[in-house]
Amino acid sequence: MNDNYTIIKNAKELVTCSGFAAKHGKEMSDLHIIEDGTVVIEDGIIVEVGKTEEVLNKYDQSKYQVIDASNKAVLPGFVDSHTHFVFGGYRAEEFSWRLRGDSYMSIMERGGGIVNTVEATREASKEELYNEGLKRLNSMLSFGVTTVEGKSGYGLDIDTEVKQLKVMDKLQRSHPIDIVTTFLGAHAVPKEYSRRTDDFVEFLINKVMPIIANEKLAEFCDVFCEKNVFSVEQSRRLLLKAKEMGFKIKLHADEIVQLGGSELAAELGAISADHLLHASDEGIKAMAEKGVISTILPCTAFSLKEDFARARYMIDNNCAVALASDLNPGSCFTESIPLIFALAALYMNMTTEEAITALTINGAAAVGRSEIIGSIDVGKKGDIIILEFPSYKFIPYHIAVNTVDILLSAEINIC
Ligand code: NIG
Ligand code: FE
Repeated sequence: MNDNYTIIKNAKELVTCSGFAAKHGKEMSDLHIIEDGTVVIEDGIIVEVGKTEEVLNKYDQSKYQVIDASNKAVLPGFVDSHTHFVFGGYRAEEFSWRLRGDSYMSIMERGGGIVNTVEATREASKEELYNEGLKRLNSMLSFGVTTVEGKSGYGLDIDTEVKQLKVMDKLQRSHPIDIVTTFLGAHAVPKEYSRRTDDFVEFLINKVMPIIANEKLAEFCDVFCEKNVFSVEQSRRLLLKAKEMGFKIKLHADEIVQLGGSELAAELGAISADHLLHASDEGIKAMAEKGVISTILPCTAFSLKEDFARARYMIDNNCAVALASDLNPGSCFTESIPLIFALAALYMNMTTEEAITALTINGAAAVGRSEIIGSIDVGKKGDIIILEFPSYKFIPYHIAVNTVDILLSAEINIC
């Protein structure tokens, strides 16, 4: 038997999510399910997908690690396409202030919020950030996440931004979860640039981004485009330069107020715009037209006690919607995939099929990887989860509880 050769056979439902690009609108409803399905994986790559009876007679099972998925549903690993999982310190105190009525922005405006985590992250050693990041990745993996996007943005200076991204690079090389890195230097204005936001943007463009680009420390560049943080004009300037330097781009857009971030995402051809709680009708339609993925983060709206993003309106207007956790120490300290499903299904009127598409192939597209992950298709990485239940329909039905039984992250199996 070759340990790197695996057959998953007899799956009650083989939920392939088949496809190599983001799915828009109605396409999000078709999960391309094979009843009684089998998948064959060799050296971490999917080499065959089909009906058990048709696939099995082509293979000598004694050469494979064989997993019997009778009475279980099998799905692609989840892609958490928006997180801030490498950070120092915690903000439990701020969370309790919010429970007493303080708003997220009022805490930020009086010097707390993101810059609080910036201080702790500047002080933290690489080892501390690595060890904490590792624990968070292990937790995400237990929920069936096999690819995660991670942002910098808690340094806001050269050394700490580089430190965060290097920690992610080390984690990428040592952990079964794949990590896609994003430079988010424009996350907040640090104290040393107080009331000099334009100067800080110039500093990022001229001094920080060239280093990140040259050392290939991040694939994406992101900006917190928000009232009293970075304006549409400042965001446009930074993201245009980012494109010139070879970054793919995404935005935190229209999270707290309707500023025009979604329109900007469409104008610039961003891969995704994220949050979108207050995105305008025009912004949503422009994103659908330009193929910008709408990444919605229900746990953040829940944690901030805000109204949810208009997922139904987005899908009905032909957007490609992705769902993600937004794991971070401030607005949303959770990596719970089951909670995302619960909120998407029960509060955002997404169907289970749409939510699964949003966390698999559309999540993959939001990190620019829809050709290699996000579905069970021949040629893709063998990132696969097996549920303890016979149908994907149990995911939101077993409310906010983990339904993942076995997880295969390409080349490494974890049970
Ligand atoms: O996506 N909104 C901006 N950034 C994060 C929050 C980061 C923090 O509060 O530390 C978000 O919600
Ligand atoms: Fe975020």
